[in-house]
Amino acid sequence: MIHILENKVLSSMLTVLRNENTKSSEFREKLRLAGFFLTYEILNGHNQAEEIKVRTPLILTTGVRINAPILQLVVMRAGMHLAIGGGELMDQLNIPFEIGVVDAKRLEEDAPDLDFDVDITSFKVPSVDKKDIIIYEPMLATGGTITKILTKIYEKGMPLKLIIASIVSAPFGVEKIEKLFPDVHIYTLAFDEQGEFKGLNGDGYIVPGLGDCGDRAFGTY
Ligand code: URA
Repeated sequence: MIHILENKVLSSMLTVLRNENTKSSEFREKLRLAGFFLTYEILNGHNQAEEIKVRTPLILTTGVRINAPILQLVVMRAGMHLAIGGGELMDQLNIPFEIGVVDAKRLEEDAPDLDFDVDITSFKVPSVDKKDIIIYEPMLATGGTITKILTKIYEKGMPLKLIIASIVSAPFGVEKIEKLFPDVHIYTLAFDEQGEFKGLNGDGYIVPGLGDCGDRAFGTY
């Protein structure tokens, strides 16, 4: 299921990320901020919260604490700043969480149907059982990397919920995930459909998109 977070604040942030003139430093900053707000929406929509007692200076009253075990899964390298922003929010709220890191690479540069084969080169992920897993992947393009990661998660155990935090998603990847993993929730700031191939151009880039997210964040373009 896809959740497109549309509001003026998030759209203005996305506009800075889309702008080709945005410098790497500001690009990283906005990715972190986007990760913070995406995680805010995800926690609000998904996590269990328990009622707790809290003493104000005046009286004992009831409050709320988010308490489901959370595992952040960072898809390197583009997902790094998004995950840092999400972690900042959870740290602010004293929500404990674990972090797993995944590295993936495309096996070939050209695939006529854009169905690039992906190799997971590193999967450093703690136990996934009974946890809410938030996968930070800013560009949900072909869905090849994410479907491989989801498969590996299910080989490892049984999470409570699987949620993808993304900046821009294309129908190509979203349709693939919805078909193979219908229970997965996708939170995204934009659903870009202008590319010729279900939102993608012939090289697998999302259109209008924001270009190569990893290169822009790491200053390597
Ligand atoms: N990865 C990116 O960084 N950008 C795209 O448009 C697609 C995949």
